[in-house]
Amino acid sequence: MVKCAVIGATGYTGQELVRILLAHPQAELSILTSRQNQGIIYGHLFPAFRNLVKNRISPLDYDQVAQKAELAFLALPHTESQTVAYELLARKIKVIDLSADFRFRKSAIYRRYYAEHHFPALLRKAVYGLPEIYRPQIKKAQLVANPGCYPTSVILALKPLLEKKLINHKNIIIDSKSGISGAGRSAVVDFLFCEADGSVRAYNVYKHRHQPEMEQELSRLYGKKVEIIFVPHLVPAVRGIFSTIYVEFLRKISPEKLELIYLKAYQNEKFIRLLPLGQLPDTAKVQGSNYCDLGISLSQDGKRAVITSAIDNMVKGASGNAVQNMNLMFGLEEELGLKIPPIHP
Ligand SMILES: NC(=O)c1ccc[n+]([C@@H]2O[C@H](COP(=O)([O-])OP(=O)(O)OC[C@H]3O[C@@H](n4cnc5c(N)ncnc54)[C@H](OP(=O)(O)O)[C@@H]3O)[C@@H](O)[C@H]2O)c1
Repeated sequence: MVKCAVIGATGYTGQELVRILLAHPQAELSILTSRQNQGIIYGHLFPAFRNLVKNRISPLDYDQVAQKAELAFLALPHTESQTVAYELLARKIKVIDLSADFRFRKSAIYRRYYAEHHFPALLRKAVYGLPEIYRPQIKKAQLVANPGCYPTSVILALKPLLEKKLINHKNIIIDSKSGISGAGRSAVVDFLFCEADGSVRAYNVYKHRHQPEMEQELSRLYGKKVEIIFVPHLVPAVRGIFSTIYVEFLRKISPEKLELIYLKAYQNEKFIRLLPLGQLPDTAKVQGSNYCDLGISLSQDGKRAVITSAIDNMVKGASGNAVQNMNLMFGLEEELGLKIPPIHP
């Protein structure tokens, strides 16, 4: 049994971790923390977990976490995870951080988009937690930086094309849509029902914090600096990320060859579901599950393609992927606790 702490257990990704870990045959929910709900039984605070989770919510006490757990999931806002990770690693606890605090290799980029980094040495130790790319490194890691939700949907969609250097790396256009839970559980006017329902809007064009994260990882895959235009949108749905990615091939490609490239890249990946050429994914068909569904549509002249990608932002985009990382870090079967079919309708 892996004894797990969920730090920030009352937020959306924290609750999703509790949901997934509860049904995981090799995980034990040892400690759940939050600042605002200390002492309350988790299943009383969240009636969805009534009679299922009897832990009382604890304050964050590093020594207590070290006594009770061997792995901590940090489901905290960015900048808050830095010190928590440092303190827990010092107490020999493995850490999977769901925030952006350890996703960048360079502290200067973190500083530009987030804040000062107080533990730059940890940035060098952290492994970017996308199993489909960094599986061997994750298995040995003490600190895993779970990827952002938009980056997961985009990096998985582009990986086969970038690795094979088939596309113009300076002409990639990414149009992504996110459900509102992507913004977390805190009350923000923009995300109120009255503001968001019945409306679709773009936001943070050229300045979204996930852009440098995607550029870092896409450039690593390609071996040269990749340039993207990334436009995120907010849609009136609770869950889901849908990315539509426009690429231009360096040389004309046949549908058979393109399909084969994706099939080869992902034939052993349990959480990537490749749709037949021309078919399109749908966020409703991955909801509640750890799947990333990918669609490939090739233009008639074979010079351009539109790659589409659908994930549940809180599962493959956050907590499910984090549990996939846990399985790897503890030598468990990678799919354990994650063979959850999507909820539909
Ligand atoms: N939502 C998503 O779809 C998603 C996807 C991928 C990654 N992420 C990342 O995962 C992390 C958690 O996201 P979330 O959506 O679960 O956030 P959230 O719903 O806002 O929850 C934040 C949690 O952290 C606790 N917390 C501790 N210190 C805090 C502070 N100074 N300010 C606010 N809350 C604090 C909160 O409880 P108390 O206030 O009681 O302490 C709560 O349990 C974030 O870094 C986010 O960017 C989220």
